Amino acid sequence: MSSRLAVCALWLVVLAGWAWQAEGARNLTCGKCVFHVSDEGLLTREGSNCGAGCGALDFSDSWGIRNISNGTFDGLSSLQHLDLSNNELSSLPAGVFDRLSNLQGLDLYNNRLSSLPAGVFDSLLKLFSLNLYNNKLQNLPAGVFDNLSMMWSLYLNDNLLASLPAGVLDGTPNLMWLSLNNNKLSSLPAGVFNRTSALMWLYLENNELESVPAGVFDGLSRTCSMSLDHHVLSLLPAGSFDKLRTCLSLSLFDDKLSSLPAGVFNGLSKLRGIYLEYYNLSSLPLESSTGSQA
Ligand SMILES: *[C@@H]1O[C@H](CO)[C@@H](O)[C@H](O)[C@H]1NC(C)=O
Ligand SMILES: *[C@@H]1O[C@H](CO)[C@@H](O)[C@H](O)[C@H]1NC(C)=O
Ligand SMILES: *[C@@H]1O[C@H](CO)[C@@H](O)[C@H](O)[C@H]1NC(C)=O
Ligand SMILES: *[C@@H]1O[C@H](CO)[C@@H](O)[C@H](O)[C@H]1NC(C)=O
Ligand SMILES: *[C@@H]1O[C@H](CO)[C@@H](O)[C@H](O)[C@H]1NC(C)=O
Ligand SMILES: *[C@@H]1O[C@H](CO)[C@@H](O)[C@H](O)[C@H]1NC(C)=O
Repeated sequence: MSSRLAVCALWLVVLAGWAWQAEGARNLTCGKCVFHVSDEGLLTREGSNCGAGCGALDFSDSWGIRNISNGTFDGLSSLQHLDLSNNELSSLPAGVFDRLSNLQGLDLYNNRLSSLPAGVFDSLLKLFSLNLYNNKLQNLPAGVFDNLSMMWSLYLNDNLLASLPAGVLDGTPNLMWLSLNNNKLSSLPAGVFNRTSALMWLYLENNELESVPAGVFDGLSRTCSMSLDHHVLSLLPAGSFDKLRTCLSLSLFDDKLSSLPAGVFNGLSKLRGIYLEYYNLSSLPLESSTGSQA
């Protein structure tokens, strides 16, 4: 009996050691470089020239990265995809991505970032997709996306954003997908969507909007799917969707609102569906002139 207990105990020690090892230092080779994450979670690199063979770096498998040594990604001009998701980053060093001139995808979701250094994405002129969801971002530096003219997908949902800098999307004319769900936005900058004419999917659910700038959706001529909740909807004047002429579907979420502003859906000439979830409406403010078949 006691020998069995001893064997069990031994196994527990072995298993615990193995688990500890799995969370401890790890290496990843890419091209001619070796990336190293220390027990303390500091990501560093060995090798000054990684060669052209390093096209993708994936640290998404819970490497426990807490900090990145300055210069870790310098000279990685062939890198196209960098995945730092599912780690424990609470900050990024200034200039950390400055040499990644060919990066197309950057994943930073499921970390603990509470702020971003000014200009942190300024060199990523070819970036297509930026995932920052599920962090603790409370604000964004002015002009943070100004050089991301190729970006078509931006996830900022599930953060603590209370406001957005003026003109935050002025440099992203190709943005097609934007999620801001589950933040604490109490206002939107005037004209925030004026230059995002490519936007097709906009998610703004579950924020704390107290007012909405007049004509805020006027620049969204191609937006085909929009998710709003009553915080937005109840604030919108009639004709707010007038410019969404190609929009095919609109999703609205609310469990309280019992009426919608009169004429709010005017102008949606191609609308084929309105999805109202959890609504308690006795009538819909649709007019026959809208051509709507909702
Ligand atoms: C990582 O690489 C360094 C040298 O580059 C080496 O000393 C260390 O043992 C390696 N660690 C692991 C976990 O492989
Ligand atoms: C991250 O590491 C750098 C050194 O590479 C250090 O200066 C900085 O204080 C560290 N930051 C945190 C939050 O540990
Ligand atoms: C990192 O290096 C860049 C230059 O490559 C410099 O501008 C920046 O201040 C450095 N960041 C830190 C935290 O030392
Ligand atoms: C980023 O944009 C600024 C202007 O907003 C420009 O001065 C700078 O050169 C750009 N950065 C790169 C790396 O192109
Ligand atoms: C946004 O565009 C409207 C016209 O559609 C204009 O009246 C308004 O001044 C613009 N706002 C900003 C901040 O550019
Ligand atoms: C829905 O609204 C009606 C009045 O319009 C009210 O009597 C009813 O309690 C509401 N139901 C819910 C679930 O709020």
